[in-house]
Amino acid sequence: MKYWWQQAIVYQIYPRSFQDTNADGIGDLIGITQRLDYVKWLGATAIWISPIYPSPMADFGYDVSDYTDIHPLFGTLGDMDVLIAAAHERGLKVILDFVPSHTSNQHPWFLESRASRENARRDWYIWRDPAPGGGPPNNWLSHFGGDSAWEWDEQTGQYYLHLFLAEQPDLNWRNPEVQHEMLNAMRFWLDRGVDGFRVDVSYKVMKDTEFRDNPRAANWRPGMDPFLRLELKYSENMPETHQFNRWLRAVADEYSDRVLIGEIYLPIVDLVKHYGRQDEFHLPFNFHLILTEWNAPAVRAIVEEYEEALPEGAWPNWVLGNHDQHRFATRVGAKQARLGMMLLLTLRGTPTIYYGDEIGMQDVEIPLDKIQDPAELNAPGLGLGRDPERTPMQWDSSPNAGFCPPDVEPWLPLAENYEQVNVARQKEEPDSMLSFTHSLIALRQQSSALIEGNYRTVGDDEHLLSYMRESDDERALIVLNFGAVPRTWTLPAEIGESELSLSTHIKERSTVIDGKLTIGGHEGVLFRQKLA
Ligand code: NOJ
Ligand code: CA
Repeated sequence: MKYWWQQAIVYQIYPRSFQDTNADGIGDLIGITQRLDYVKWLGATAIWISPIYPSPMADFGYDVSDYTDIHPLFGTLGDMDVLIAAAHERGLKVILDFVPSHTSNQHPWFLESRASRENARRDWYIWRDPAPGGGPPNNWLSHFGGDSAWEWDEQTGQYYLHLFLAEQPDLNWRNPEVQHEMLNAMRFWLDRGVDGFRVDVSYKVMKDTEFRDNPRAANWRPGMDPFLRLELKYSENMPETHQFNRWLRAVADEYSDRVLIGEIYLPIVDLVKHYGRQDEFHLPFNFHLILTEWNAPAVRAIVEEYEEALPEGAWPNWVLGNHDQHRFATRVGAKQARLGMMLLLTLRGTPTIYYGDEIGMQDVEIPLDKIQDPAELNAPGLGLGRDPERTPMQWDSSPNAGFCPPDVEPWLPLAENYEQVNVARQKEEPDSMLSFTHSLIALRQQSSALIEGNYRTVGDDEHLLSYMRESDDERALIVLNFGAVPRTWTLPAEIGESELSLSTHIKERSTVIDGKLTIGGHEGVLFRQKLA
């Protein structure tokens, strides 16, 4: 294995919700540093931290007002230096979030840009005259509510583009000065020792030069996200996006051993093009386990499609959850959560674990008066809000779960069941989701089959997904029962008399009799075999 990120297990930290240390109910950098030993113990090898930059927090940090500083809520640059050093001491890599597509409307660049049409930074953002008959320049819609993506600016008599909130004006990356400043912001952090970036909506950065109207989406129905009324034909994945990817990659390549991960929600055929010729993203995020129906045939099909589509030299990756998606354990049901973790950690490629998924955290219902996310506030009641999956980490059974002091109100409510579902408790329970995840990671890290072995589907059962991973000296067979009832399955001859190495279930785990496996409902099992 050539690069650290190929063998990495990435752990995503949503900084507001990991650990508060100054009693304001919001997680901070010192808190992350204090919890690094936990991350290390779990067996993850890299952390990705969602944005920690100065921001008015209209989109909780994805509206950046200064790319080269730390929001006082999270701490200081000094705290970040300490965090990076502490992580590196423990052999953990640090990946930051880079948000190139838009800034905050409070960023000094935008304040200048909107000051007058003649301002030197006018062209740093995307300004357009009204359409010939009046109104916005084209029909593009913005995320979080589905209103026009164009905001009228009375003072200068033009519209500016914002693919997300009006508080998130899009940068004009066709302007060389923008390129220069933004690429330098990356260097600022790389110089400080960060090991790479996750790049926010990388595939939406370059816009159509002609700003053509997007076509209507044929399958949109009322009750769906209003943003999806139109296809995104001209507002994402434009051909020039690959040029953008290469600019970023060239910067990463000025340093040794850094990684770029692209946030890209696209069909597999388009997604894999973002590897380029190994001159674009090291890891274009693969969200297809989130987007695919949760059953054995559908997951098998997507894994096979992805494996086949990967270009020469491209390293795969998988994700089950993040801060924009409902909790995995809520989406597929608590009983399937371990199976999902087993899938994530036994497929070929780099896995990313969303904080709390290792203890089976679930979506938390947020009372109306506590809702924070504009995705919910601007389009209420459609299930689009992201607060439920962003609640504080559940560390222990004490009031506020050890996230913040007992007398402080956390920025989002804690899960009601945190006294049962928390790190301290699950560490003590051999049969917990955490103990399972911990053992699975430990096993993965010393298994060449799982780390670098190839992938091969075995069988086509309706309820079981089974596959082989094989390296030069080891073979592993994984069998996952997506169904609720036990099933009996004939083991492939190669597996022979191999011992079952791990099961999602400690009690009532599978049995093997005469080469036949009887696997429980929701159970996943793994067999390992040394090859001579
Ligand atoms: C994707 C981020 O993951 C999401 O949280 C954010 O709201 C949008 N990009 C806009 O930056
Ligand atoms: Ca705090």
